[in-house]
Amino acid sequence: MRALVLSGGAGTRLRPITHTSAKQLVPVANKPVLFYGLEAIAAAGIVQVGIVVGDTANEIKEAVGDGAEFGLEVTYIPQDAPLGLAHAVLIASDFLGDEDFVMYLGDNFIVGGITPLVDEFRASRPDAQILLTHVPNPTAFGVAELDADGRVVALEEKPKQPKSDLALVGVYMFTPAIHQAVREIEPSWRGELEITHAIQWLIDNDRDVRSTVISGYWKDTGNVDDMLEVNRSVLETLEPNIQGSVDERSEIIGRVVVEKGAEIVGSRIVGPVIVGANTRVTDSYVGPFTSVQEDCRIVDSEIEFSIVLHHSSIEGVRRIEASLIGHHVEVTPAPRVPKAHRLVLGDHSRIQISS
Ligand code: G1P
Repeated sequence: MRALVLSGGAGTRLRPITHTSAKQLVPVANKPVLFYGLEAIAAAGIVQVGIVVGDTANEIKEAVGDGAEFGLEVTYIPQDAPLGLAHAVLIASDFLGDEDFVMYLGDNFIVGGITPLVDEFRASRPDAQILLTHVPNPTAFGVAELDADGRVVALEEKPKQPKSDLALVGVYMFTPAIHQAVREIEPSWRGELEITHAIQWLIDNDRDVRSTVISGYWKDTGNVDDMLEVNRSVLETLEPNIQGSVDERSEIIGRVVVEKGAEIVGSRIVGPVIVGANTRVTDSYVGPFTSVQEDCRIVDSEIEFSIVLHHSSIEGVRRIEASLIGHHVEVTPAPRVPKAHRLVLGDHSRIQISS
C-alpha cells in the first residue's frame, strides 16, 4: 500500500496562523501539521509516499527532505496548478500504479493517527473508505448524506444547504478503482476535479464505498480557538525532555520540553509547555498549554495557554492568555503617559476619580 499526501495549494489564503505560505507547515506543539500526517502514515506501515506539491514546493521539500527521518521514501509529484484533489490522483497515477493507497491532505490533523483505519481497509478492501466527522460549519467541507443503515448515499462539495453535519475528513483509502472515476468526472463550478465527485461516481456505479465516523479531527480554518485547542490536546501527550539549560533560580513543574539551546533563567515553567530551540525565558512565568517556537525572547512577562511563533519577543507584559502570536512579533507594555487631573471644584463638591 502507498500513500499520496497533498501539500499543494496556491498559498494565497493568508491567515493569522499561517506563518509561511504553506498551510501544511502550520505548527502544532512546535511541529508542522504535515509531520503528524507523515508519522501517522509511517506508523500504519506504509513506506512509499508521493507528496503532491505546488507553488510552495520548495518550503515543503526543505521541511520533509527525502522522508528518511520519518522512515519513509518520498517521491515529489509537481502539480502545475491547484486543479483539485482528483486531479492530484490523476497526475500521480504512475506513482500509484495498481496499488491500494491512502490519500492524506497535508493540512488535516487526525488525533490518534490512522493505523486502525488502514488495518480495517486492508482487511476488507472496499473500493473506497472515507472518514466523516461532525462539524459546526459543514458548508466549508464536502458533506455526506447517509441512509438509515449508515451507508453513504450522496456526497456534496461545499453545499449551500448541507444535508447533514458530517464532513469528509481529508483522509481517504482507495483501491485502483478510483483511477477510472477520476478520469470520468468533469471539473466543478470552482474549476477543480473534486475527489468528492469521483467518490460519488463510484457510488453511482455500484462500487463499494464505506464510511467511518471519527472524532478528534482538526483542520486549520483560521479559527484561533481551534488552533489553541489542538495545540492543547497535543501538549497533553508531551514527554518531558530538557535539552536546553535551566538555571538554579528557575522552577520546572510538570511535563515541559526545553529544546536544544534554549535557556530558562530565573523563571517558573508550569507544563505542559514546549520551549523551542534557542529561545530565552528570563524572569518570567510560562503556564500550561503554551508552545513557544524557536529563537524567541520572553523577559519579565507572564504567558499561558498560548502559541508564540519563532523570532518573537515579549517583554514586561503580564498576563498574556489564550493568544496566538505570529513570528517576528514584539510585544511590549504601552508607555505610561503621565496623567494629571486639573480640577476647579466648587465648595462642598464630592467627586470620585479613578486613578
Ligand atoms: C477538501 C475536500 C473536502 C474535504 C476537505 C477536508 O476541501 O474537497 O471535501 O471536506 O478537503 O480538509 P478543500 O480543502 O479543497 O477546500
